[in-house]
Amino acid sequence: MGGDRYLVTAALPYANGPIHIGHAIGCYIPADVYTRYRRLRGDDVVYICGTDEHGTPITVSAEKEGVSPREIVDKYHGMHLEAFKAAGVEFDNFSGTAREIHYELSQAFFRKVDENGYIHRETVERPYCPSCGRFLPDRYVKGRCPDCGSEDERGDQCEACGKQLEPHELVDPYCDICRETPEMRETEHWFFELSELSDKLGEWLRSGKLSSSLPNNARNFALGWIKEGLKDRAITRDMTWGIPVPVEGADGKVLYVWFDAPIGYISSTKEWSEGRGEPGLWKDYWLGENDCKVVHFIGKDNIPFHIVIWPAMLMAEGSYNLPWQVASNEFLNLEGRKMSTSRGWVIWLHDILEEFEADAVRYYLLSIAPETSDSDFKLEEFQDKVNKELIGTLGNFINRTLTFIKSKKDGVVPNMGVLEDLDKDFMNDIKACSKDVGGELERFKLKHAQDTLLHYAQKGNVYFQNREPWKGENDTSLYLCANLCRSLAILMHPFLPFSAEKVWKMLGLEGGVAEQTWDSAGELRLEGRHRIGEVSALYSKIEDDSIAEFKKRYLPIGEGRGKEEVKEMVDYEEFNKVDLRVATVKKIEDHPNADKLVLLTIDVGSLGERQIVAGIKEAYKSEDLVGRQIIVVANLKPAKIRGVESNGMLLAADEDGNPILLQPDRKVKPGSRIH
Ligand code: MF3
Ligand code: ZN
Repeated sequence: MGGDRYLVTAALPYANGPIHIGHAIGCYIPADVYTRYRRLRGDDVVYICGTDEHGTPITVSAEKEGVSPREIVDKYHGMHLEAFKAAGVEFDNFSGTAREIHYELSQAFFRKVDENGYIHRETVERPYCPSCGRFLPDRYVKGRCPDCGSEDERGDQCEACGKQLEPHELVDPYCDICRETPEMRETEHWFFELSELSDKLGEWLRSGKLSSSLPNNARNFALGWIKEGLKDRAITRDMTWGIPVPVEGADGKVLYVWFDAPIGYISSTKEWSEGRGEPGLWKDYWLGENDCKVVHFIGKDNIPFHIVIWPAMLMAEGSYNLPWQVASNEFLNLEGRKMSTSRGWVIWLHDILEEFEADAVRYYLLSIAPETSDSDFKLEEFQDKVNKELIGTLGNFINRTLTFIKSKKDGVVPNMGVLEDLDKDFMNDIKACSKDVGGELERFKLKHAQDTLLHYAQKGNVYFQNREPWKGENDTSLYLCANLCRSLAILMHPFLPFSAEKVWKMLGLEGGVAEQTWDSAGELRLEGRHRIGEVSALYSKIEDDSIAEFKKRYLPIGEGRGKEEVKEMVDYEEFNKVDLRVATVKKIEDHPNADKLVLLTIDVGSLGERQIVAGIKEAYKSEDLVGRQIIVVANLKPAKIRGVESNGMLLAADEDGNPILLQPDRKVKPGSRIH
């Protein structure tokens, strides 16, 4: 192998909601691109992640939904894994911070920082809700931001101005669970002495120990904060969901989520090495003497924690490697507005991957990656860029070259003949492409790197056009074009892993792209007489209909999307045509031709019994349904659904794609009308 050693991480996502496209391009896809690239370079890389399972983001969701934090965490951990897999984001380990291995490590970490003299106890005043009978940590309390005055901000961070907050700093606070005004009460907490580490942090930030690609704004932000004066920070909370504070007299206190979460990078690496049956392997990546470069990929809201607090924690603990690079992206907007999960103005990663090819999604997201400023995701632009660039430029070059060889040369790459100037230039391009794209990746300029890849595909198109191989005068051009296809397949692997593999197969090459080396993409390795494989289109074009359909299904109507939505407004008379009724479920059968559908026999009172087809098989067990009352549209035109007639439609709320049935809140006569 002989390369360098890298430990790549992506911010541990909170397990209280699905991953959206902004998260995906914020850090998970970039870290995946970087990891794949480093591997092709021959480096020893481990890509680590896991869910962030503590803190008030989780417990507030759990309380509002009336389930245990564990249930929330397990549900989203699974959803995250699936979405990442579909996106081609391949972690070496995806752990979770509520696991035993993480508890042990976090407690040991705390104790060591304490032993080293960087923790003290202090009695402080904190908001306490008299009607809920408890202290209100972080997101349990809302109020006005003391800095920018924005209303209804949460006690951990102001969304409007980005300021890190402590819950007692909010102005006119209220309890987010019961709306009561909290009172201040005394409680004891443990504080991390960040102030003591100012000088050390400043030195480290100015030293050459960080990557030269560390963005200046991150470094300057940190230095500015240090200059302002770092304050000691409470690292414990009064709550039960979390890691118990491992000292005497700390009953009912847990570690603050931001104290334990980054330690998850280390515990997940440990879990990875145990899983491989080499329990000591993690040390190669985390312990000082082994010269491993730790690269954190994060979104911009996590910068303060990764560039100041986490390094300070590591300094205070003393055993582990400090970050070498903190690569952060800015935010992604959606159709010109800030994404908002509460208003449904968001595209979930799993939804977009359900409708479109993963590489098309990766391509577009990388092409608009918010590397230096916020950027905007637009569905029409997605369609346009995929069709024109990914398909029209990259796919086109590869397909036309390989189709030509297949149909005109019996699938055999011709030998190299005499080289004219045009060919020599093109040959130099092939030799330069891996250096050019690689250079951008070395500097963490992923978007530029992908643009450069496209630029070489475009050079291929121009060359092919100029060389006119269909005239049959000189086959050297085909030899060279086939070689560029091979080079592109390797260079595509970090960005477009699924189609890179497809190109490799189409070229009829052995093994997989991931086993190749980056440098070999700068060589003419495909020899004359090589027989290529089966050729087919690399990507499918995105049609207008799919974009329109996607908008309809996944974006809320009326959210600033212009006139077309206004057309979809209905007036009262129209609405009143819909006959909504209460019905009682009598019988359930499996749909003969579809896994997710069931046939419900329902009693609609005066309208009689009838059968409807519904997509609720995965969400509800049949024994929970018989006898239950539901709401149906009773005057929908009968329709055949997968071959079975359906006479109506039931109403359900859509929560992250799962149906939640509506029902009257006490039993009523079946057939009752709903106005
Ligand atoms: N869960 C946090 C977020 O989504 C990120 C935690 S990153 C870690 O904003 F370093 F703490 F793991
Ligand atoms: Zn309350």
